[in-house]
Amino acid sequence: MNKSPQKIIEFVGKIKVDKSWSFAELGRKDTTYITHGYHRYPAKFIPQIVSRLIKKYTQKGDLVVDPFGGCGTTIVEAKTAGRKSLAVDINPVAVLITKAKKTAIKPDQLERHFLQLKQKIENYNKNTKVKTPNHQRIDYWFEPEQKKKLSFLFSKISEIKNKDIQNFFFCAFSNILKNCSIWLQKSNKPTRDLKKIPSDPFKTFFRQTKAMMRGNKSFYFLLQERGFLETSCQVFCGDARDIPTKNNTVELVVTSPPYVTSYEYADLHQLTALWFKHTKNLSDFRKRFIGTSFHTNKTINLNSQIAKDIVAKLDQIHHKTSVGVATYFSEMNQVFQEMKRILKKGGKTAIVIGNTKLKSIKILNTEVFVEQLQNLGLKIRAIIKREIPSKNLPSIRDPKTGRFAKITDKKKVLAYPTEYILIFEKQL
Ligand SMILES: C[S@@+](CC[C@H](N)C(=O)[O-])C[C@H]1O[C@@H](n2cnc3c(N)ncnc32)[C@H](O)[C@@H]1O
Repeated sequence: MNKSPQKIIEFVGKIKVDKSWSFAELGRKDTTYITHGYHRYPAKFIPQIVSRLIKKYTQKGDLVVDPFGGCGTTIVEAKTAGRKSLAVDINPVAVLITKAKKTAIKPDQLERHFLQLKQKIENYNKNTKVKTPNHQRIDYWFEPEQKKKLSFLFSKISEIKNKDIQNFFFCAFSNILKNCSIWLQKSNKPTRDLKKIPSDPFKTFFRQTKAMMRGNKSFYFLLQERGFLETSCQVFCGDARDIPTKNNTVELVVTSPPYVTSYEYADLHQLTALWFKHTKNLSDFRKRFIGTSFHTNKTINLNSQIAKDIVAKLDQIHHKTSVGVATYFSEMNQVFQEMKRILKKGGKTAIVIGNTKLKSIKILNTEVFVEQLQNLGLKIRAIIKREIPSKNLPSIRDPKTGRFAKITDKKKVLAYPTEYILIFEKQL
């Protein structure tokens, strides 16, 4: 029988932390093993959480899907466990990174291409003629010297014919852009630092590529040893509400959804998006993301009394925020419908989510998701509560605005000291 909204709130409130899911003992080296350290990405999974979920809920050869694939943690882990996998993300930058991370390249082949590329780059001198992009936003972020060297680098990578190898170097290129620009280094918001001395593109690229080559080597040999080099592992740039998989085909959905008005992924990844011409119009790009504050009004179906109560409370304080939250919950409900469509009978979800506050109102994402999933006919199997070790906290939130803020500001509150993993099962 379905739990009432009140019972859901009480039930979630009583769940105790399971310390075995905190992975507090892990250091950076553990969480960036194989290809996981290729590229920075906000709010990425700890690979060990995904690996444990996959091993617990699936068998070798099963299909695992992540509708909010981000930088590909789920499908990389699925591959190392011999599970077929598929990820979707609306952000082309996420897809670029995922493609590189999921592709194990023969180490000696990669080394050969690296040496060829290095030689071409070392031929560069001040007089080298380079075609540079004519784009106001690129000039806003990059000094002329950096822009010229990056353009040269970009053109030499573009000449590589093998697409996997080209994408590997493009991923390295993307990850150095922040360091080589005047983007305020630790900021999650696009802020310029006019005093910053940007890094040299060539040196930074070589360092980045060498670290990635070590990651590729261990990924390749691990897959080879386990016999999983050919295991299917796909990524698509698209919407979580339209996953390219047939009905009733998936054993497990593992995902961590975006949060409402937290990260503006479109803004955060604009340096890569600019170089790769992912979008000419940033404001159009932003609207495609669930959780963005640049949403456009659509028909709202909350499918949750808890969500309705939160939206009503917010509406009394700040109308715009209430519309943003309503849009978010309504869109998440559509994603859950899509998850249900693709899951096999007996297939499970593992949705990682935390609660937060906006305008001093508690945004009970966990309780709302539980109610929505239940109303869609999925059955609760387990809800795991885990502590997020402080070193893994994505950021902290401003108590008034709820937006992510700098960790150094003492008045701010911790954003997600705990989070939940929602295990639901499709029964029919
Ligand atoms: C919390 S991140 C996922 C991080 C991921 N677990 C990882 O380890 O990298 C949420 C992701 O949702 C994506 N996203 C936002 N709106 C989307 C949509 N409509 N469809 C698909 N992905 C979307 C964002 O681009 C972002 O990558």
